[in-house]
Amino acid sequence: MKYLFVVGRDRDLGVLEIVSFLRAKNINFEVVYSEKRFIVLEMNNFNSSVEEFGGIVKIGKRVNIEDIYFDKSKITYSVYGRDILEKLKKRFKEEGVKAVFRKYSDDPNNLDLEIIKIKEDTFQIVSVSNPKGYKKRDETRPKFDGKKVVSIRLAKILVNLSQARTELLDPFCGCGTILQEALLKNLDVVGIDKDISDARSNLKWLKENFSIKNSFNLIQGDARRLSSYLAKVEAIATEPYMGPFLKKIPQSEEAKKIAKELNVLYSDFFREARKIVKGKLVFVEPIIKIHMGEVNVGFEGILIKNGFKATIFTNAVNPIEYDLKGSKIKRRIWVLERFK
Ligand SMILES: C[S@@+](CC[C@H](N)C(=O)[O-])C[C@H]1O[C@@H](n2cnc3c(N)ncnc32)[C@H](O)[C@@H]1O
Repeated sequence: MKYLFVVGRDRDLGVLEIVSFLRAKNINFEVVYSEKRFIVLEMNNFNSSVEEFGGIVKIGKRVNIEDIYFDKSKITYSVYGRDILEKLKKRFKEEGVKAVFRKYSDDPNNLDLEIIKIKEDTFQIVSVSNPKGYKKRDETRPKFDGKKVVSIRLAKILVNLSQARTELLDPFCGCGTILQEALLKNLDVVGIDKDISDARSNLKWLKENFSIKNSFNLIQGDARRLSSYLAKVEAIATEPYMGPFLKKIPQSEEAKKIAKELNVLYSDFFREARKIVKGKLVFVEPIIKIHMGEVNVGFEGILIKNGFKATIFTNAVNPIEYDLKGSKIKRRIWVLERFK
């Protein structure tokens, strides 16, 4: 059976997320078609919703126009691709359905029927993301600072990239966004931070307001001393401490000073992570923007020194740059594993 994925604004990240998600679930797949916004995969059985992803906007399933079922006599619809509008109109007429056309957009919407044609295949959208739903979950938690936390979208992506099946650690957990999204995916979570009070309030709130079956363990501590708290962990996903909050683009000297401090912190962290992580380590590397160019923290050297490498994916890029508009820091997202 063929499935269509409409990826969000960061295409490569969306693709890496799909591939990681399928690997974690042991689902075999073949890439049939891949272009800027649309990815078509052949798989035996897939019934996950868009809600399980952070970087996917819509999921479609291959259909024959003749087999489409209408459960209402009045619907709204849109189409993308050639030669299907007339066929669809014929079906509406046959079934006595009053159908109101809306122009196609990749953005999430509330249409009753969306049909996308790619090459010779016709897909019906079966799952659409709901960013407004996230926004509520994001902003109504007890501790929320839009400047500091990773977005729910990115947190979901990082959790999927980790390929964690049972357990995830965030060693710089801040207010716990990554932990929250991992709990909602039925993973046990461990969070470490110098100050766990915000994460504690948020996860307590999450347990009271959502049905969460798994457990969370928060440890007030130092990511540079990981192995003194934990003997092993299946997977790690983190957006680490990235230096002081920058109000404006720093001067070159200031950026270099921050980069040097981060190099020491990340080196200490990776040395400890090597001792405890069994599977993937997903890490967001900061690159500091300056007026003329950028300053990096020497990340690749840290990886080599501590025995980590980027996981190789045949169908996806790794690492991936992620540049938020207006941010003083550019991010590079890595899926890492230990050298054997
Ligand atoms: C970028 S924030 C993490 C944001 C988090 N991923 C979220 O979305 O809520 C970085 C966190 O690292 C913590 N931190 C800084 N140095 C640390 C260290 N050596 N060990 C543990 N946590 C540390 C800070 O207290 C801060 O909460």
